[in-house]
Amino acid sequence: MNVQELMAVQTQALAEVADAGAPAELEAVRVRYLGRKGQLQTIMESLKSALPADRPALGRAVNELKQSLTAALEARKAVLDAAADAGKTSAWDATLPGSWRRVGSIHPVSQVIAEAIRIFARLGFTVADGPDIEDEYHNFDALNTPAHHPSRDTQDTFWLEGRRLLRTQTSPVQIRVMESQPPPVRIIAPGRCYRRDTADATHGANFHQIEGLYVDRTVSMADLKGDITYFAREMMGADINVRFRPHFFPFTEPSVEYDFSCHVCHGTGCRVCKQSGWIEISGCGMVNPKVFRRVGYDPETVTGYAFGMGVERIAMIKYGIEDIRLLYDNDARWLEALA
Ligand code: DAH
Repeated sequence: MNVQELMAVQTQALAEVADAGAPAELEAVRVRYLGRKGQLQTIMESLKSALPADRPALGRAVNELKQSLTAALEARKAVLDAAADAGKTSAWDATLPGSWRRVGSIHPVSQVIAEAIRIFARLGFTVADGPDIEDEYHNFDALNTPAHHPSRDTQDTFWLEGRRLLRTQTSPVQIRVMESQPPPVRIIAPGRCYRRDTADATHGANFHQIEGLYVDRTVSMADLKGDITYFAREMMGADINVRFRPHFFPFTEPSVEYDFSCHVCHGTGCRVCKQSGWIEISGCGMVNPKVFRRVGYDPETVTGYAFGMGVERIAMIKYGIEDIRLLYDNDARWLEALA
């Protein structure tokens, strides 16, 4: 046995330590080298027959082998023990509370918009879009609502610089669509609207509307009533009735407001409909010829109907929500309960 051979044994032993993947394997390596009948013992025996001059160097090499092997065995044992402990905590433990991921749900306002898009798609309507930041022309003037027109007062406006504004209604999308294409038109335009309203149970400064516009050669009030009624029954239930009350909007003539019969009490009167049996949705009417002229459509050859609807209003009655502010509190528990 010479020093080179001892170093080769050391290299081999350390490699076996490093390879040991479990405590039992490591123990086998220890026994093989350091055990009573281990390789080191054999080497010690053989030292007795070495030349006296070689003994000190061989003795140092054997000691070094023993020390480095012992240290490596300890270090490897610590690693394997730690891994075994970690394994224990991630093992299946029936007493641990389950770890569960919260599942999101679609917001009621988004659900109503998505459902409205599906319903009107069956009537041939496509979806149009317009900017939230509008100009005065599209939000008011082109809709036959000039400055100082009394109906501007009911839509208290967030004005921006340069006579721009946050749209108070989705009606300006009507103008933008007609400006961009010739008739016929059959679109709905869902989107956000803004008004300087003080928040209460039924008002917010930020809400959603769905605008509708149908222009063709022979569109009539009968089409309007039929389509709104179809929508009401698809959205709220087959037994819903719709009533139309004369009203005024600058961009439609004639104009009406429309109500759905209360889907909770079916018209007999309850808390949801404030005992009236009806729930007000929004306004609609036949497109005013003045609006057609603004966008270059000929009111002698085309007619059209337009409608608006308040999305939060429909969501509130559909899901029985009593305060509009709940829709925007972002309380996940409340939204989950609706899902
Ligand atoms: N833009 C109106 C509002 O916000 C609602 C409306 C009424 C829209 C009549 C229409 C319409 O398209 O024809 O109060």
